[in-house]
Amino acid sequence: MTPIQLFDPSSSTYTYILCDDVTREAVIIDPVDEQIERDLEALRKYDLKLVWTIETHAHADHITSAGQLAEHAGAKTAAPAACGISTASMQINDGDVLRFGKEEIKAIHTPGHTSGSTSYLWRNHVFTGDTLLINGCGRTDFQSGSAEALYHSLTDKLFALPDETTVWPGHDYQERTHTTIGNEKRGNARIAGKSKEEFVAIMQNLNLPRPKRIDEAVPANLTGGLRHDAGGGPISEPRAANGYAGDVSAQLAYNWWQAGEAVLVDVRTDAEREWVGFVPGAVPLPWKQWPGMAMNTGFDEALKAATPAGKKVVLLCRSGVRSIAAAKRATELGLEAYNILEGFEGDPDQQAHRGHKGGWRFHGLPWRQN
Ligand SMILES: [Fe+2]
Repeated sequence: MTPIQLFDPSSSTYTYILCDDVTREAVIIDPVDEQIERDLEALRKYDLKLVWTIETHAHADHITSAGQLAEHAGAKTAAPAACGISTASMQINDGDVLRFGKEEIKAIHTPGHTSGSTSYLWRNHVFTGDTLLINGCGRTDFQSGSAEALYHSLTDKLFALPDETTVWPGHDYQERTHTTIGNEKRGNARIAGKSKEEFVAIMQNLNLPRPKRIDEAVPANLTGGLRHDAGGGPISEPRAANGYAGDVSAQLAYNWWQAGEAVLVDVRTDAEREWVGFVPGAVPLPWKQWPGMAMNTGFDEALKAATPAGKKVVLLCRSGVRSIAAAKRATELGLEAYNILEGFEGDPDQQAHRGHKGGWRFHGLPWRQN
């Protein structure tokens, strides 16, 4: 059994999928948002049920698809506790174990590239993120990095693993795929045979350019990669989207619905509609259900039944993320599906309150409290 290794050329990032051969439960490590279709296709191809998305750290060079995979595939999100990824459902600490089927993956806190950076051991494979690269290591000059901490993580923690352990790095820029602990212990140009002082001096003199996407990527990664679009005015035309017919404002969706051109489907949970409010006349059809946010297995059949031939379907959720997943599914079912950008409640403001930044209610469209 070997990991499925996937590559994102624009950031040279490796993403990994591991699975239990019997139950088909799987985890994904460091998924990249531009590659979500590739990753969903891999899950389908190998008939896998994604149970965890796992981050090695809060990346500065790409945006994770963890938040989207939680919606599309029903996975739970996990990230190192010290990374400040507050939206992750599991905050991972050193020694924590994540289970998928009968398999387990164990967290080894390896600070240095960032203070939260964590490696993951599965059988005799270790996924090192940017802590240990092939003949290299991650930089330590930004994002709470520390060359001293990295030295200890490499020499005391990773190099304490058996020599034959396969190392799967978070990146490679020269088309190499993996290495072993023994190889890196003996030959890694930055660390092999170096004292701590020598290693720190090397790391301090790298003079690397600032990562191009750091200002965009790090904030997005601290919320699982979910970016929000609220705050704009009404848009009169649908906006092009990938994998479904387009994004629309709440007002445009309302107009289509009132004109009889579209069916309005509310994909929030029964609990949300009951507690937060609902749109009279919309089709209530949860994408996921409370408790546990498990995928609604009856979604496909009910959606097809609710959408007459020749009509568009517009999908409403809380803030326009779940409805993207639902719109993509609707497209696969052959429907002309649109996502309502800001959802029912709009995006959270600075204090995490909703209702002030866009959304169905904010724009004064009809709704009712139960
Ligand atoms: Fe990184």
